[in-house]
Amino acid sequence: MKNIIGRLNHVGIAVPSIKAAVIPYRKIFGIKDITRPRTLPAQGVRFCFVNLPTGQIELIEPYGDNSPIENFLKKHPKGAQHHMCFEVEDIYAAKAHMEKKGAKVLGEPRIGAHGTKVIFLHPKDFTGTLIELMETPEH
Ligand code: CO
Repeated sequence: MKNIIGRLNHVGIAVPSIKAAVIPYRKIFGIKDITRPRTLPAQGVRFCFVNLPTGQIELIEPYGDNSPIENFLKKHPKGAQHHMCFEVEDIYAAKAHMEKKGAKVLGEPRIGAHGTKVIFLHPKDFTGTLIELMETPEH
């Protein structure tokens, strides 16, 4: 049977400042392929992607007054791993599957950083790790 989840797309790291957070990736790892920061006002975040051969690291910084990562950063002021994201073929089918299996889905599908629909799964079902599911973008 095929897995409901596909490839690991990215690991999300919440940071107080994207500008500061990209420095070690450039200076220590020598990575040049880092996307320009963009804002998702509806989700209260700014983000950029560090492109690696096997996937991406998403650096996320709070945006606006009620950013969902504000509380997380209070607990981890220097930044920390925030979520990991797996690709799925169909976000609505994935949501129905997760609910049927008893996982707690947070909210309704919405447009994520890659321009495709995403949902989040509560960390309680995955040993403390917040899971993002995203519809596979057309590359
Ligand atoms: Co993400």
